[in-house]
Amino acid sequence: MSEASFNREYSQTVGEITSPNPRIVCRNVNVYYGDKHAIQDVSLDIGRNEVIALIGPSGCGKSTFIRCLNRMNDTIPGCRVTGKILLDGQDIYDGSLDVVPLRAQVGMVFQKPNPFPKSIFENVAYGPRIHGLVSSKAELEEVVETSLRRAGLWDEVKDYLHQPGTSLSGGQQQRLCIARAIAVNPEVILMDEPCSALDPIATAKIEQLIDELRSHYTIAIVTHSMQQAARVSQRTAYFHLGRLIEVGETAQIFTNPRHQLTEDYITGRFG
Ligand SMILES: Nc1ncnc2c1ncn2[C@@H]1O[C@H](COP(=O)(O)OP(=O)(O)O)[C@@H](O)[C@H]1O
Ligand SMILES: [Mg+2]
Repeated sequence: MSEASFNREYSQTVGEITSPNPRIVCRNVNVYYGDKHAIQDVSLDIGRNEVIALIGPSGCGKSTFIRCLNRMNDTIPGCRVTGKILLDGQDIYDGSLDVVPLRAQVGMVFQKPNPFPKSIFENVAYGPRIHGLVSSKAELEEVVETSLRRAGLWDEVKDYLHQPGTSLSGGQQQRLCIARAIAVNPEVILMDEPCSALDPIATAKIEQLIDELRSHYTIAIVTHSMQQAARVSQRTAYFHLGRLIEVGETAQIFTNPRHQLTEDYITGRFG
């Protein structure tokens, strides 16, 4: 298929892009790396207390898209983002907006756990301290404990808080990174293939945690695993060659996809 006819056929996302209770609203988002057009005209809402899974073949733009949501693409030379992205009604690309608090409000967890080369306690305490969220040692200790509890790690580490974060297992390190994100009171947590470096038991723990976190946070998770998308998310968005092809209730996407490209991907004919 020629690029022009592909563009004509796939320019319209199938399914409901809006949410009745949106936390993030994206409209006509485009991302360029130099002259490579990596995200093409994506419009999507992400709802409060929702887990949305972003799926699609490697290179389709999942990571590029979620990096737009906390302006992480700003750190990539030559990367340019156009369109509108609102967080609770506020334009996050507004020139006067400070990205430091934005990246606390919209936290990120990466594929490979990346604890700081510091103690378990300091990994979690660092953010609240630099963002000035606590005013005493007791308050800081409380935030560290609450964050580790919420990340499902407290019982495993409470007697080892001064050991290095890197001494933990991979799955524990990923939960430590989630605790670190939680410690600065985020509204949204972005997760880019957070389980792909983990074994099945550690993965199951993170999946259970994601479901629990939904009561406090909005979560966007990129995953290669369709089983994982089906287990953890309420909505699923299917990307293909930089476009948002289809979005809908997760059960509908996996049992009754409306777009041929979605069907090809979920039935394993593509990707
Ligand atoms: N830093 C970068 N510089 C140039 N091109 C990039 C960069 N990051 C990603 N891309 C390109 O943008 C497209 C989308 O990539 P990416 O968002 O990483 O996809 P996914 O996460 O779905 O695998 C790919 O063609 C990729 O090669
Ligand atoms: Mg990626």
